[in-house]
Formats: sequence, C-alpha cells, structure tokens
Amino acid sequence: MSRVVGLRCKECGKEQAKDPVAACAGCWGGLEPVYDLDEVRRTFTPETIAARPRDLWRYRELLPLDAEPTVGHGTGFTPLLPAPRLGQRLGITDLWVKYDAACHPTLSFKDRLVAVALSKAREFGMDTVGCASTGNLANAVAAGAAASGLRAVILVPEDLEAAKLVGSAVYGATLVGVRGNYDRVNRLCAEICDRHGWGIVNVNLRAYYAEGSKTVGFEIAEQRGWTLPGHVVVPMAGGSMLTKIDRAFRELVELGLVKDRPVRLHGAQPEGCAPISGAWKAGLAQPRPVKPDTIVRSLAIGDPADGATALAAIRRTDGRAEDPGDAEVVEGIRLLAETEGLFAETAGGTVVAAARRLAQAGAFADGEPVVLQISGQGMKTVEALQGRPPFAAVIDGRLADFEAFWNQHGSAA
Ligand SMILES: Cc1ncc(COP(=O)(O)O)c(C=O)c1O
Ligand SMILES: [Zn+2]
Repeated sequence: MSRVVGLRCKECGKEQAKDPVAACAGCWGGLEPVYDLDEVRRTFTPETIAARPRDLWRYRELLPLDAEPTVGHGTGFTPLLPAPRLGQRLGITDLWVKYDAACHPTLSFKDRLVAVALSKAREFGMDTVGCASTGNLANAVAAGAAASGLRAVILVPEDLEAAKLVGSAVYGATLVGVRGNYDRVNRLCAEICDRHGWGIVNVNLRAYYAEGSKTVGFEIAEQRGWTLPGHVVVPMAGGSMLTKIDRAFRELVELGLVKDRPVRLHGAQPEGCAPISGAWKAGLAQPRPVKPDTIVRSLAIGDPADGATALAAIRRTDGRAEDPGDAEVVEGIRLLAETEGLFAETAGGTVVAAARRLAQAGAFADGEPVVLQISGQGMKTVEALQGRPPFAAVIDGRLADFEAFWNQHGSAA
C-alpha cells in the first residue's frame, strides 16, 4: 500500500501525479512528495523501526517509493559521535559529529539520495540514469547504477578532484567532462533530459531524490533516543539538504515520534561560493547567483536551486549562516582529524570552520546539543591538504637513524 499520495509544488501548492517531472506545470516551482501520514503512522513506530536493518530503508514509510527498494541496502545509519575534544577547541559544550562519510558505498551522503532516485528510476521502467554533479553525486550515481544494472551518463566540470573523477569512472559509467562550472553542467543536463527522456536524478527525479536527505534528520533523532538537538550545522550547495533535515524533523514532530522543541539550523558555505550565506547576512529573500571560486568543489554551486527555501528555513528556525575562507576550511579539516580522528572532505572542513565562527558569535551560548553534519570523506579531496609534507622525516632503515631523528624531534611531537 503506497503512502505517497502525489507531488506538491513548494511554491504554489498545486498537486500533481507521481510522474518523473522536473517542476510544477503551473509555476515551475520545485516539487515534493505528499504522504498520507495516517497511513504512515500505522507502521512507523520506534519499535518497528528498531527491528529493521540499520540502513536508510528503515524509514521507508517516509520515502517516496511505491515498490520495494532496489538499491541502497546497507547504506546509511552513519554514526552520531560525541566530539568533546573538538568541542573544547571550538568552545562548544555539547558537541556531536554526524559522520555521514562512513557506511556509504561512495563515502558521502549522496548515496542516500541516489538509493531513492535509482529505486524510483527502476519503478518508472527507465534504463538510463544520469546527473549533473560537483563530484560526490557522480560517484554515487555511477556506483548505484552499476549495482542495479542501469546505464549511467554522468556530467561533471572537467577539472574536479582526481579521486572524484576516478571514483566515477571505475564503475563503468559514461563520464563526460564539461568545460565550465557546475551551473553550466546543470543547464546542459536539463536539456539532455528533455531530449533523451533519461532519469536525471537532479532534474526529472529531483522530487524523489531530494527526499533521501531526510534520512539524515531521521537518524539524528533516532540516535538521540527520539529527541531533537538544539542546533545542526549543515553544509549548503544547492541548499536541499538543510531544507530536508528541517522537513524530517517536522514530520517526526507531526507524527508524535519526537517532542517539539526549537532546533536552530545553521548553514555553512565557503567564502568563494556563498550565495545563500551572503543573502542571509544581507537580509535578502533570494540568493543572488555568484561565480564560484573555492577549493570546496562539492559546495561550488553558484545558483542554488533550493537557495530561497534554505534561507527561509534558516530564518524560521532562528539559525545563522557562515562562509569561512579556504584557509579556514583546511584548518577545519585538520582540526576535526587531529581532535576526533575523523577525516572530512572540504565540505566537512567548511562545517567545522563555520561552527568555529558561530561559536565565537555566541550562537551556541544556550548550551544545547550541537550536531555537525559531516557529509563526505576526506580521502576524496586530499589535494586540499597538499603543501605540507606528510613525513616528519625520511630516514634509512636503521635504529641509529631513527634514534638520531627522535632525539631531535621526539620531545616536540
Ligand atoms: C559532500 C557534500 N556536502 C554537502 C553538499 C550540499 O548539498 P545540497 O546541494 O543539498 O545543499 C554536497 C552537494 O553536492 C556535497 O557533495
Ligand atoms: Zn507551482
């Protein structure tokens, strides 16, 4: 029995059928699935959820499938870890890290979204899927398509990080490098979608795909014993994840699974691509598109599709937005690694650096639990850390050489 009633336009509220469509036929607004919450309530309880496998499908009543999922088994339920040592360094009393870089086949939260999108593509009878990507989505679509026997055509800016390019091509996907930035790639993908009718996850499957990010919010709540935190710091590119964590928390409140309480949602962008954060600071209702110039390639979307919605969610929840510079981002990556033993890609460094600024501005003065959403693994962006040699020394393999080195450097280590 399907719990998804249809799709609703986020702008004008018009409802439409559950088809592979990119936008509202009336106003071109974004679409989101509508659920029959009374139907959801019948089986979506802490007890039934606890008995299910530890992956994103444990929340399947609030994901937009009409058939059994075909991709993503074993994906998700990533650890929510206390981070006292990082907390001490940042001046945050009750700090947690959602390490959303583990328990995913391609080591980023995008595997959640792709599990939903590709399961939906199979429901629609599609044989070819694709995406425009800043890197992580490309990896996830390539791997998911391989696992489910779909053909994948993936478009990315041609100058992405090496690990992200190899990490897409290895799965046998057709990877096309496009000269230009993500926003150009995205426009091209929309045209390809119109021409070929493929399942492009962030175009005609977007309404379904984006719902996958809600599982970050569901997991945070469940892992906290079905309570909501006081603050979540979320990286923003298109702005979708922040809006979906918000939606997840509100759905849980509406279903009575968690007690309502204020949750401040804070957005993090790199200084070199900060249309949403910039609009928050300037008091604008809409982000103004920018031309990205940052090492944080995964967040380099200059014209964010869900920018206005993310901005509204930040304001409604009394959150803030921050946009640290590239040097602060690198410092953030190092700090998380050195204090908690967790390696994040540049998007995670952006979150840590934004949290530092937010703490300094007194945003967490209420002492409530703060969760940092670390959405991708550091091995994907090692370029960011080049410049400092990894070795303390290079020696011959003799104890005497090590002793000579240690006598000089050991006390400082
Ligand atoms: C690692 C990582 N974190 C965060 C984001 C931002 O997500 P959204 O576009 O939903 O704002 C992305 C987007 O590509 C990403 O790759
Ligand atoms: Zn509309």
